[in-house]
Order: sequence, then C-alpha cells, then structure tokens
Amino acid sequence: MDPQIELLLDHYENPRNRGRLDNPDVQMTWGNPGCGDVLTIYLKVSDDGTITDISFEGEGCTVSQASASILTEKLKGQSLAYAEQLTVDDVMSWVGREVMISRPRCALLALSTLKLALRYLPKKPN
Ligand code: FES
Repeated sequence: MDPQIELLLDHYENPRNRGRLDNPDVQMTWGNPGCGDVLTIYLKVSDDGTITDISFEGEGCTVSQASASILTEKLKGQSLAYAEQLTVDDVMSWVGREVMISRPRCALLALSTLKLALRYLPKKPN
C-alpha cells in the first residue's frame, strides 16, 4: 500500500490528540458545507508562544479526520510562528499529492480550521 495512504488510515483508525481540551486558549469549529463534515480544534499556548497542547474533535471522512490527527501531531510543542507559516504544500507533504489533488477540501479542513483558530487567539506573545 502507498505509505501515505497507510499513514492516513493509521491516523483515522488510531487518532492522535482526539478529544476536548479543558480551558483552551482558543477553540475553533469549522466545516465543509458541501458534505457537512466538521472539525473543532483546541489550542493551548504558553506565554512564550509555544503550542503546549492541541487536540481535535470532529465527524467526517477518513481524509479530513486523519489530516486533523496528523496536524495536531506536527504542531504539539511547536511555536505559533511555525503554525502560522504552514501552507497547503506542508499538508500535501503529509497526505501525499494524489490525495491533495483528489480530495483538497477534505485534506485542508484541518489547516483552515487551525488558521481561523490562530486568528481568534486572544492574547499573542510579543
Ligand atoms: Fe467532507 Fe471529506 S467528505 S471533508
């Protein structure tokens, strides 16, 4: 099996960081209107701008939920600056070009939700 498909299936079947975070600094729910799939991302950020905890909840297809799981794994312990500069290309490097081309809205739901969450983060370190 293609290793990136294998990775997606593994994250879908064994999601990392799935569940609600208590007292997050920000939480954001976003969805794809076309299919009704939704995702909520929770973030905790320390004063020095480190993402100390991140989790997600959601309902949806394999690609959207697996991408969210991968995203949380990549971001835990990283800086806000790293999260802010993540692009479509980064997500493509995780899920693979084939999936990105055939299911772009599914693959990018987590990134879009993250970007919105960052915009609503109440206090950002200087
Ligand atoms: Fe809705 Fe994939 S089918 S996000």
